[in-house]
Amino acid sequence: MLIALWSPKGGSGMSVVAASLALVAAERSEARLADLGGDQPAILGLPPLSTAVPGRGLAAWLAAGASAPTEWLDAMTVPIGPRMSLLPLGDDAPAAAPEAGAALGVALRDGGLTVLDSGAGPSPAARAAVEVADTALIVIRPCYLALHRAVADSRLRPSSGAILVEEPGRALDAGDVAAVLGLPVVARFPVRADIARAIDAGVLRDRLPAPLASPAATLLAGLADARGMWAA
Ligand SMILES: Nc1ncnc2c1ncn2[C@@H]1O[C@H](COP(=O)(O)OP(=O)(O)OP(=O)(O)O)[C@@H](O)[C@H]1O
Ligand SMILES: [Mg+2]
Repeated sequence: MLIALWSPKGGSGMSVVAASLALVAAERSEARLADLGGDQPAILGLPPLSTAVPGRGLAAWLAAGASAPTEWLDAMTVPIGPRMSLLPLGDDAPAAAPEAGAALGVALRDGGLTVLDSGAGPSPAARAAVEVADTALIVIRPCYLALHRAVADSRLRPSSGAILVEEPGRALDAGDVAAVLGLPVVARFPVRADIARAIDAGVLRDRLPAPLASPAATLLAGLADARGMWAA
């Protein structure tokens, strides 16, 4: 099952939400984190991953086109913990075709849970991967500029919910975001100084802060209920 996250505006906190979802999911079952943004090794506090081997990384997979072998995905998988693994971006590659992104999304739907960090910027391949996901979720701050972009984005149509990354002092709230997007707000992650410090220190993987773990667990439980999966 593929849960794809996308964001209409850079720096929303999407990669941190993606890492939190995968880390929490891995507490109970196998979880993969597919990184089309390239920040996950740093967010997870990993040493730089070797990108020297050809074919290693999702960028190379996408560059090979829609017929890239699925086995490459297994070969590039980096174990992160007992049940968690990372599909790293690897070297930047020339812009890949939407067909390759759709093929990647379809390949990632197989197996257990995969959380896709679809990265920043208007990559046609990443967009296509979001569009074929089992569940697409928009990650957004309650910001007028982000909402303005979101309503014009083709990824909104296949999305089934919004994840709010909430900072204090915003005029817009969860009700406004839900009304503008026409989607339920399925999780609310706070922006906090102690979370930022944990990310900067690279300790998320070992000690996921409770304000990230809690909304991640609630969101996963809701998705599982909706699909009749992961029954306790
Ligand atoms: N919940 C949070 N609380 C505090 N700081 C956060 C939180 N989430 C993310 N950040 C910080 O905000 C910045 C952006 O986070 P992140 O990289 O997750 O966003 P993104 O949407 O994936 O950005 P990009 O568009 O670059 O991919 C980083 O400096 C990160 O440390
Ligand atoms: Mg990111």
